[in-house]
Amino acid sequence: MTRRDYLQWMAAGAAAAEAGMPGLVPFTAYAAGDASDRERRMKWWHEARFGMFIHWGLYSVLGRHEWVMENEAIPVRDYEQLAPRFRPKPNAARDWARLARQAGQKYMVMTTKHHEGFCNFNTKLTDYCAPKQGPGRDLVKEYVEAAHAEGMRVGFYYSLMDWHHPDGARCATDEAARRRFVAYTHGLIRELMTNYGKIDVLWYDVAWPLDAQGWESEKMNAMVFKLQPDIIVNNRNKLDGDFTTPEQHIQAANRAWETCMTMNDSWGYQRTDDDWKSPKTVVRNLISCAHDTGNYLLNIGPKADGSVPEDSVRILTSVGKWMERNGDSVRRTDKCQPRRSNYASFTRNGNTLYMHIHFWPGETAVIGGMMTKVKSARMLATGNPVKFAQDRFRVRFLGLPAQPPDDPVTTIAIECEGEPHQDTDFVRKERPRHNV
Ligand code: GLC
Repeated sequence: MTRRDYLQWMAAGAAAAEAGMPGLVPFTAYAAGDASDRERRMKWWHEARFGMFIHWGLYSVLGRHEWVMENEAIPVRDYEQLAPRFRPKPNAARDWARLARQAGQKYMVMTTKHHEGFCNFNTKLTDYCAPKQGPGRDLVKEYVEAAHAEGMRVGFYYSLMDWHHPDGARCATDEAARRRFVAYTHGLIRELMTNYGKIDVLWYDVAWPLDAQGWESEKMNAMVFKLQPDIIVNNRNKLDGDFTTPEQHIQAANRAWETCMTMNDSWGYQRTDDDWKSPKTVVRNLISCAHDTGNYLLNIGPKADGSVPEDSVRILTSVGKWMERNGDSVRRTDKCQPRRSNYASFTRNGNTLYMHIHFWPGETAVIGGMMTKVKSARMLATGNPVKFAQDRFRVRFLGLPAQPPDDPVTTIAIECEGEPHQDTDFVRKERPRHNV
């Protein structure tokens, strides 16, 4: 829908609502992120499946995690001294966007303001922002341009909690402070939604210390949808929004959901955090999300100069090579029922079942309790056919090489006669037992 179509549609909706016409969604409901419009707005996001999260701010200068200000109780005046020291190289975001594309990610979500309160964007509402401090330029603008140059959808992370603003904590107990702080917050969000063209995701974070009423979250979302009619928003401003955001774990919901996860244990750059996930773990996590039609938002924490930690580059590059060969098996997936295996996980697209083998069993791989008839099977990476034999209790894939042909996970695409269904209870009950 173009902006003009949208305006016409809004006008028609308003007129229809006024005339009391049934069956038309009044535009006020739409402006608040109406559910009936959700499918349209979220289509690209469901198809994207895999995104890049970016945590970048003054904390990157210290390299001791994005919570360093609070967890080391650094006084505000001392912390502010980081602002002139934050001097990233120009257009660092181009490398992130290229890396994201190569990794098979389709969208990016960058911190425009984290809990520390520093704005990576240009604002009229505070001097504590990138163009007026060390960077000397609008880092959000660079990010948006870089993302678009690589064909990425663009998301903005925005922390409601603010450790820097004088009203950021006292707004909970002082009504005048709350009003000022809410005006400031809505004002910053308005700038973000106005000054950077079309934005695809608004990713709120930590609503401490107010509730939805205190933040005036309904009004906040209504403003956002008015300025960005195609946008999707998450659920962290204490409203449901369009999707749920399990953090650091994978948990399916009965609505749209996105797991966000670090690659080591820190969101912001942490110099000595060496607890990196292997490419295999990342791929398996992506598969787990895809099994239940969820998204996976995987974080990088660039250094203060904007460069991406070497380990993150290594991991994403390896994941990207796998995605080149196997991306279809996680991107366009439907909810998948089969899940039982000791060495594989599964995704599904229509009647195609993908068996993702992460611990190679050798020459034969088996799915127990496979109730749907298999028509054919092929190695996804090479397209080579895979021989198989099926009876009532299992399907066996035969003559596989001794070593896994793909890395870090080998995927077999299995064409079935109907929607693949696994029943291991059937095996437990019906498999013939010895006569004793
Ligand atoms: C938590 C953390 C925050 C991080 C976020 C990402 O809310 O407080 O530092 O940005 O998770 O989901």
